[in-house]
Amino acid sequence: MGKITAAVTAVGGYVPESILSNKDLEKMVDTSDEWITTRTGVKERRILKDPEKALSDIGVEIVKEICDKRGISPTELDLIIVGTITGDYRFPATANIICDKAGATKAWGFDLNAACSGFLFSLTVGTQFIESGKYEKVLVIGADVMSSILDYTDRATCIIFGDGGGGVLLEPNTENLGIIDTIMKNDGSGREFLFQPVGGSRTPVTPENVAAGEHFIYQEGRAVFKYAVSNMADVSVAIMERNNLTGDTVDWLVPHQANLRIISATANRMGLSEEKVMINIEKYGNTTSGTIPLCLWEWENQLKKGDNIILSAFGGGFTWGAIYLKWAYNPR
Ligand code: ACO
Repeated sequence: MGKITAAVTAVGGYVPESILSNKDLEKMVDTSDEWITTRTGVKERRILKDPEKALSDIGVEIVKEICDKRGISPTELDLIIVGTITGDYRFPATANIICDKAGATKAWGFDLNAACSGFLFSLTVGTQFIESGKYEKVLVIGADVMSSILDYTDRATCIIFGDGGGGVLLEPNTENLGIIDTIMKNDGSGREFLFQPVGGSRTPVTPENVAAGEHFIYQEGRAVFKYAVSNMADVSVAIMERNNLTGDTVDWLVPHQANLRIISATANRMGLSEEKVMINIEKYGNTTSGTIPLCLWEWENQLKKGDNIILSAFGGGFTWGAIYLKWAYNPR
């Protein structure tokens, strides 16, 4: 028998119904639709408004869709990994809650924190359990409820992010389809440019720091942009080179949707034409761990067996990486 690879065999996604447009934001902070559109590419984003709902509810929808599409029961899942920075609670892990609510009674699970690279890091970890032969059904989710940690008086951050996410099912494959190669990176010295200052063991929550808004996301956008634009392109080119891929033989780039300018710079460095790049930032903004699976979810019906796909992300931490994925099925 040939080598076992981890193939994606189904995709699911979920975004909340409520839309927050650039026009809405114009009424909340000193900004404009024109500024947001030209600087980021975002036109609107989804917000999880229902106070009874949290990240696990998004996760359950994703699990249900994936199991329905694949024709399996959640009870057949072995493991659920959730890439996120906005779990229901600091603990327990949201993966536990999703297993419970979705009826994934056999599965165990955990959350993985790598900011905007959360889905790629989780996919890399999930792949190991399939390749080793340990498990046959690993479900990997990337999702975030960014509205829960945003300050809607801070125009530097609130215009970028949205809520939602997606996921994939990984199963063993012997045709050399699925995850072919991964490169994951981090550089913790970048932590000061993009982080949530308060709420961890470094600075626990106090009435004073909450009143000062320090429990919200802090980002020095210009500094992050500089690192993001070079690292995301570098790692994407590196994974192409080491797998002998060119702009002609790559079928799709699935970039993290943080900023249209970062996506364009990455695609240019890879020598890709525009129609090969998945972009939905205008509809959903930056959903952190959610962006890449949300793209796969929206483009699933255009993907063909054997397509060469590069997934690429850069996020807080700093974290970044790229995955070479060979698609395993034709549109159903
Ligand atoms: N509306 C209007 N003006 C604004 C806004 C706004 N919403 N925000 C900032 N400005 C102003 C600034 O005050 C500044 O004014 P000044 O020149 O008078 O000082 C000017 O616009 C330019 O500000 P910059 O911050 O330099 O704008 P920039 O072009 O860098 O765009 C942005 C900001 C969109 C945040 C960009 O820097 C970016 O995309 N950075 C990378 C984000 C990223 O990739 N993050 C990683 C993933 S997220 C994660 O991991 C959780």
